[in-house]
Amino acid sequence: VRITWEAEADLVVIGGGVAGLTAARTASLRGLRVLTSSKGGPTDTSTQYAQGGIAVVAPRGDSVDSHVHDTVEAGGGLCDGAAVRSIVEGGQAAVAALTDLGAVFDLGRDGQISRTREGGHSTRRIIHAGGDATGAEVQRALNAAGLPVRFGAAALRVVTGADGVCGVVMASDKGFGVVHTPAVLLATGGLGQLYALSTNPPGATGDGVALALWAGAAAADLEFVQFHPTVLYTPGGLGRRPLISEAVRGEGAILVDSEGDSVTAGVHPRGDLAPRDVVSRAIAERMRALGTDHVFLDARSIDGFAQRFPTITASCLSAGIDPGAQLIPVAPAAHYQCGGVLTDTHGRTGVPGLYAAGEVARTGLHGANRLASNSLLEGLVVGERAGAAAVERLGVRARVDEIEPWTVEFAERSVVQQAMTEHASVVRDGAGLAIASARVDAAMSLVAVPGPVARTLDETDVGPAADPRRGRTQESGSGRERESAAASLRTVEDAALTLTARALLTAAAARAESRGCHTR
Ligand code: FAD
Ligand code: SIN
Repeated sequence: VRITWEAEADLVVIGGGVAGLTAARTASLRGLRVLTSSKGGPTDTSTQYAQGGIAVVAPRGDSVDSHVHDTVEAGGGLCDGAAVRSIVEGGQAAVAALTDLGAVFDLGRDGQISRTREGGHSTRRIIHAGGDATGAEVQRALNAAGLPVRFGAAALRVVTGADGVCGVVMASDKGFGVVHTPAVLLATGGLGQLYALSTNPPGATGDGVALALWAGAAAADLEFVQFHPTVLYTPGGLGRRPLISEAVRGEGAILVDSEGDSVTAGVHPRGDLAPRDVVSRAIAERMRALGTDHVFLDARSIDGFAQRFPTITASCLSAGIDPGAQLIPVAPAAHYQCGGVLTDTHGRTGVPGLYAAGEVARTGLHGANRLASNSLLEGLVVGERAGAAAVERLGVRARVDEIEPWTVEFAERSVVQQAMTEHASVVRDGAGLAIASARVDAAMSLVAVPGPVARTLDETDVGPAADPRRGRTQESGSGRERESAAASLRTVEDAALTLTARALLTAAAARAESRGCHTR
């Protein structure tokens, strides 16, 4: 197998969601040659599916202090106060930049931006678009900014040398590629595919955490996986499940069990609008007590439900449920990784030239439990800062001179998902976590990543431009090389899931207390 394409860039952004595209735009505006890649297509992101909105301090009846307070309270004592304040303070400018790009948010009857409320928020501060299609509008606006993105190109490995990052090995339909670069930003999203049921798209396989760990960076707070309380329940079936936004409860829907009793009464002063970890735990406990696998959301009191929540209405109708007239069956499902690659609030990891932003990163904003709608906020604010920070790597010599063969360890995806779903979901215990670890360890095998081995790169092969539309680097690989590249992606995804699962299980076993969304 040979390298079929090469390129040079000042910054490689891995990921085409809110964090990646925001960073790529900022860095491009600052004159960096940016190569942005996504292993999927333009909408294969969690960003695309975001519903409720973006939490941002409202101009009236709200304050930075109040948003900081709510974030820290939801975070179970593990938020980094300075990081929270810094990111919350950046919210209004970040949303203004998005609006300048053409994003359109819903307006109220007064002509001002409409704001809704979600769990853990003390006021209505969440802006939204298309009713419940906020993420689709954010993704649309960023996609329309015209940034060149190499779709279907997966990062397999970040290469480091004496000065930190010096390149990335990638796999695409053109075969294997190498990009020589002093800076890489991981904006790869989350790890929902660790679980059998998740709100996340299929590409959420924890690649960024694994790429960072393999490159020598640190990760933290991985035990804090957020399970969204209200994911549409349908019997049987695995994979991505439609979300029923917290904003539905924000507009007045209530959670009831199969007996018609409130699920959260007496659990928390904010009842159904308590922070997400509290509500998911209450649902899990009620399901266990009643021996059921779901509870219900009663949204029948909301006038004009279909107009306010068109995406959710469509999901419910396709499952045979009319949300205006019937109870909506819901259950918790894996939704968000609160921890991740350890960074500062400019996306810097401990490895020079390696940055992370968005869901993959652990800035300290979320602590043990993310406050609803703080994720798009973080992607916008830290994405912008990380794109700007990468300027500091200009002038660092970066060249991948040789790619050594490498091996990874992985267990079958179904084994990992089953172990995590059974033993590392909303409620965990030490014995279960040990069983899950043992199952994953026993299923692991060591494999060589199919791909370029011991290749000494030739100076003259290197293409002149990072822009895939202009570079002369796009020589097409043979059928065998393309197959090998596709196999490598699957191998690296499975290895990423396995490594992330093991790190998460280790962290969860070490944290013997219950805190945030980690309940022992
Ligand atoms: P993503 O948007 O997930 O993008 C990840 C990108 O990385 C993709 O382009 C993917 O193809 C690429 N990628 C991954 N691995 C590789 C690789 N190895 N090589 C190349 N490319 C790779 N948050 C809110 O704040 N408000 C909400 O209302 C909200 N609602 C949500 C609803 C749903 C159903 C879901 C799933 C999440 C929701 N969230 C919400 C969370 C939020 O949407 C995500 O956390 C956020 O969009 C993540 O953005 P990101 O840029 O970090 O990653
Ligand atoms: C939702 O709309 O309930 C999801 C919001 C979030 O994940 O922040």
